Amino acid sequence: MKTPPHLYHIPLSRRRLLRSMAVASAGFTLPGFLAEALTISPTVTQGPYYPLARNIPLDKDNDLVRLNDNLTLATGVVTYINGRVLDASGNPVRGALVELWHADHEGDYLYSTSAARNPACDAAFAGFGQYLTGSDGRYRFRTIKAGLYQGRTRHFHWGVTFPGELRRTTTQTGWNEVAYAVNGSVWPTQNSNDNVFGTISNAEQRASMLLNFTAVAGISTGEVEASWDYVVGRTPTEPTYPAGGSLVVSGMPMAGGRFRLRVPAYAGYSYEVYGNPTFAELGWQALPFGLTETGALDRHIHTAAAEGTLDLYVHLPAIKGFYTVSYRVPGANTGTP
Ligand SMILES: [Fe+2]
Repeated sequence: MKTPPHLYHIPLSRRRLLRSMAVASAGFTLPGFLAEALTISPTVTQGPYYPLARNIPLDKDNDLVRLNDNLTLATGVVTYINGRVLDASGNPVRGALVELWHADHEGDYLYSTSAARNPACDAAFAGFGQYLTGSDGRYRFRTIKAGLYQGRTRHFHWGVTFPGELRRTTTQTGWNEVAYAVNGSVWPTQNSNDNVFGTISNAEQRASMLLNFTAVAGISTGEVEASWDYVVGRTPTEPTYPAGGSLVVSGMPMAGGRFRLRVPAYAGYSYEVYGNPTFAELGWQALPFGLTETGALDRHIHTAAAEGTLDLYVHLPAIKGFYTVSYRVPGANTGTP
């Protein structure tokens, strides 16, 4: 069985971890802190190479260096980039979908109109990744240094979709350095004459997108890192959670024979589990469940006390392993446990 995609591929040295925690906690405890120093990130073109649905790899996690479980890693300078999605006041934005896509080390994108992926693109390079921010607004990716292609200087493409919205906002970051071709010659398109970076008229905004990458401390293999905060030019609205809804959840088999259903919990919302008649012979009945792997199956409904992860344990198998977990807004019928 394939292991589920992991959100935290990226090995962080102790020092970097502590540093990122310090930054995260500062942003959390002091909302608005440094707000006057924040520069709104400019919105620039998405460009033509956001992957088509069929180009997007099944492995779309935040590690672009390793595709699926391949042993071969993408070719290029391993590059870590992390930061936060902040509103204009400096408050972290939770639940923002951050997308990163860029060219491989030779300047070839995953994008293709005629194939699942561009055959010229490094087969070991994921080319695209996503990260959903938590309450600290933080994202992180491991990737490679983007390659150069005709007409542009070196750049990453970013998409940010705010919670409850359907349209991504796009921007691009570059390298605050002279771009050299693979053969060592100076690339004809630099930040100054690039048709994207060269047209950001506000000097501060432009500078905020040209990043300084530095060697990762303690690692001798040439890996580099940079931090970059995406600062939204408006305050995204927190979504109102649906009046009621349901999630299709796969059951994770436990050693004792139960199945664990893991769902996001919202404070005050009530959860119930149903077998799905299209997947199993359970019918539309609320299934009994417990809150622990081995404790009593003592309820048909559970009201979450806090936001976080909620694990529900059922003993009835679904034929294809999927269950429906429904949730109700606070104050709605909470039934009898
Ligand atoms: Fe591009």
